[in-house]
Amino acid sequence: MRARAGVPARQDDVSGGTARGVVNATGVGKRFDVGGTPFTALEGISLTIREGGFSTLIGPSGCGKSTLLRILADVVRPTSGSVEVFGRSPEEARRAGEFGFVFQDPVLLPWRTAQANVELPLQVAGVAKAERQERARELLRLVGLKGFEKALPAKLSGGMARRVAIARALILRPRLLFLDEPFNGLDEIRRRQMNDELQRIWLETGTTAILVTHNVSEAVFLSDQVVVLGCGPGRVIAELQIDLPRPRDADTMLLPEFVAYERTLTRLLTEAYEGTGP
Ligand SMILES: Nc1ncnc2c1ncn2[C@@H]1O[C@H](COP(=O)(O)OP(=O)(O)O)[C@@H](O)[C@H]1O
Ligand SMILES: [Mg+2]
Repeated sequence: MRARAGVPARQDDVSGGTARGVVNATGVGKRFDVGGTPFTALEGISLTIREGGFSTLIGPSGCGKSTLLRILADVVRPTSGSVEVFGRSPEEARRAGEFGFVFQDPVLLPWRTAQANVELPLQVAGVAKAERQERARELLRLVGLKGFEKALPAKLSGGMARRVAIARALILRPRLLFLDEPFNGLDEIRRRQMNDELQRIWLETGTTAILVTHNVSEAVFLSDQVVVLGCGPGRVIAELQIDLPRPRDADTMLLPEFVAYERTLTRLLTEAYEGTGP
């Protein structure tokens, strides 16, 4: 844990990465074979992500955000270019247990309690029962679910299920947390509450976070760095640094700087949507 409140994102990088960042993608492309026809989903993607930072990938649906996230997380292999994570290949970093993943759908096992769902990755890793129970309880507290340890997923609201999914992703203490549209389907107020929670969790754990979203306010509220992807094929069309003090709250969203970032990002995103059709 480290105190980060009010401290700008670190510029230096001292643990395992190069001076360039903890995630470096260079000229990454991905071609899929769709019924014998090649389809280029991503082309020439280069990006750098700093240790302990919060980075967001934003862009229209179908422009390759999830594919890019999966490439960084070693779920999908690129067909061109190279990726380095903590100075290693994504595969080595994944095998070393550096990654946590939160998907759009929380995918909880319905017959296991909230606590047992959070414990699952530790159980698979063969960690003793007492230790995994203690760590799962601590994480449920961290995500604001103290008292819901024994609840089954069917009894949890959409926001609570997502908190469980975040706790589960954090249980192996990942250095890099991937979040693919984790708050889709939540109404505006719940989404804002989850954004507050996610910022707090990220500040408390010190993990590096990479989020996929297409929500402009969410991107500005959470990020140090926003990467805007355009379509046809998916590529980086802009990068924006968000320089606002932390922790950010509802008042931050009223600052003229916040509104200016939203406006800039909306303009960039509108450009990204051009040519994608209604
Ligand atoms: N396994 C796959 N096989 C073929 N095409 C795929 C596959 N995965 C993704 N695609 C295509 O790649 C493009 C980008 O998809 P995706 O990364 O899911 O976009 P996003 O997350 O931005 O909505 C889409 O056109 C999608 O249909
Ligand atoms: Mg997606």
